[in-house]
Amino acid sequence: MCGIVAAVSAGGDVAGDVLAGLRTLEYRGYDSAGIAVLADGGIEVRRKMGKIAVLERELAARALPPSPLALAHTRWATHGAPADRNAHPHTDDAGAVVVVHNGIIENYRELRGLLQAQGHAFRSETDTEVLAHLIGHLLREDGDLHRAVRRALDRVHGAYALVAAAAGRPDLLVAARRDSPLVIGLAEGACYAASDMPALLHRTRDFLVLENGETAVLTPNGAVLYDGAGRPVERPPVRCDWTPEQAEKGGYPHFMLKEIEEQPDVLARTAFDRLRDDEGDVEFEPGFDLDDQALAGFRRLRFMAMGTSFHAALLGKLMLEELAALPGDTLNASEFLYSPRLPEEDALTVVISQSGETADSLRAMREVQARGGRVLGVCNVRGATLEREADHVILTHCGPEVGVASTKAFFGQVTALYLLALRVGRARGVIDRDRGRELLADLRRLRPRLDALFGPATAAPLAAAAELLAPAAGCLFLGRCLNHPIALEGALKLKEISYIHAEGYPAGEMKHGPIALISPEFPVVAIATPGRTHDKMLSNIEEVKARAGRVIAVGLADDRRLAELADVVLPVPEVPELLSPLVNVIPLQRLAYETARRLGREIDQPRNLAKSVTVE
Ligand code: F6R
Repeated sequence: MCGIVAAVSAGGDVAGDVLAGLRTLEYRGYDSAGIAVLADGGIEVRRKMGKIAVLERELAARALPPSPLALAHTRWATHGAPADRNAHPHTDDAGAVVVVHNGIIENYRELRGLLQAQGHAFRSETDTEVLAHLIGHLLREDGDLHRAVRRALDRVHGAYALVAAAAGRPDLLVAARRDSPLVIGLAEGACYAASDMPALLHRTRDFLVLENGETAVLTPNGAVLYDGAGRPVERPPVRCDWTPEQAEKGGYPHFMLKEIEEQPDVLARTAFDRLRDDEGDVEFEPGFDLDDQALAGFRRLRFMAMGTSFHAALLGKLMLEELAALPGDTLNASEFLYSPRLPEEDALTVVISQSGETADSLRAMREVQARGGRVLGVCNVRGATLEREADHVILTHCGPEVGVASTKAFFGQVTALYLLALRVGRARGVIDRDRGRELLADLRRLRPRLDALFGPATAAPLAAAAELLAPAAGCLFLGRCLNHPIALEGALKLKEISYIHAEGYPAGEMKHGPIALISPEFPVVAIATPGRTHDKMLSNIEEVKARAGRVIAVGLADDRRLAELADVVLPVPEVPELLSPLVNVIPLQRLAYETARRLGREIDQPRNLAKSVTVE
């Protein structure tokens, strides 16, 4: 994960500020920490393996000189074991450039080879040191740090949020971002960069959020942003107030809309730092604490949760069966208490909860543990009860979800469950390294494809579908296989925030009863993307049309048969079938939002609901 904080100010010493911010980011990684300052024309670095407290002891023993510029980092190891030498910040061998970085440079081996051939000597096993050397090398060519960073990034494949500084320039930081978060904080006579806003709230409420592919030049007078082509970008700062809720809303009319649009970033945050692309495997943080032997020892996995998280649980089971060939079962967490006591020793129970505080889910967790079983918690909130009490943990890292109707948290849960299924498949030997690599590459390729879900071509069909749904008294959501849970989730989203009655069904079930409801006033939302269920979904749509029903379909824009049958097609990009739930859920979330907006509903606080349900 890794956390970054950096500051440049007109004078004084900013190290204390930077360390205060770093402490709030410790949830992002804690195997080592470091800080660098500029002094006497050079770069001074302190970095230690262990938590920030270890670094603080080092700083007490070996104080840094006062400096108007500092960069700090808290690390979660990706390349190179936790060790002092692998801790950030990293410098080039000339000591001219210093870098902190969050993410993975995929082609670092190739770049390191090229640099070694030119005489560079490396002191760590990290991908970040390669970046420092590359930037240093390019800086020597023309002396401009921003240009050197941009030219270095042109040669880099991977995900990064990074901040760089150059010896002799205590008035300048350069920041860049792709797929890992980075915000810039603006203050009187100082400018900051950090992995999230809360890290800087002790200094400023004015932020520029760096977009993918952008770079920024930070000086004590402010920041100038540049797009991928190097053109300056004008963007007004986002004002961040003190409550976390307000801090996250920035410019959007509703949290729900913002959180829907954050989902491409959630993919990167939940997954990308965990992918071991070369090995075709996944590595979770130490809290996961299940090695190959432990994972291969389970005879079944059980997935439990409530509400939207329960729909993620259904997908967890399906993905486990697909990728690990291991039986899974699902149970609504509120039902577990009444289930017969079966042997738990050979089972792992996965409890999924955004808040980590849902009473039914916690009760189920404790009951599993009381019966002798082990619980893996999949949770979004660090420090929540689920995280603290589960035997094993995967954090989803979606950021705070404020909208009562869960969107990005579901996306993060499904992403994490895909990673879990892959990890179990690798541990059991069901997936070999090559297949693992393909599955990880599929996930990385998904990130840019998600942008199409928010493109201009989606606006008109979305408006038409919301017009069709808004007057309806009720509707059916149909899907099959991996998209059955998405049908359930689409129906839940619509009913929660629009108050239109909606039911999700496996499409095969329609003829066994629900078809009686079909009429022009009772529309159907059908998920008909490519894959093993496509033909059958088209048959279901034909059956609806034959009864004068109206159909909103989720499918490919160029699916001619679908376009002929459906009243409206919500277009989605083509992706591997196993990842289609992550794509297909997004137009359904947007459909619920648009429909509720037309009906004038209280979208972020729907009636009778609460974000965290802490009673059984
Ligand atoms: C629906 C929704 C709820 C939650 C459920 C579980 O949009 O938000 O159904 O999913 O209350 O909450 P967590 O995931 O916090 O356990």
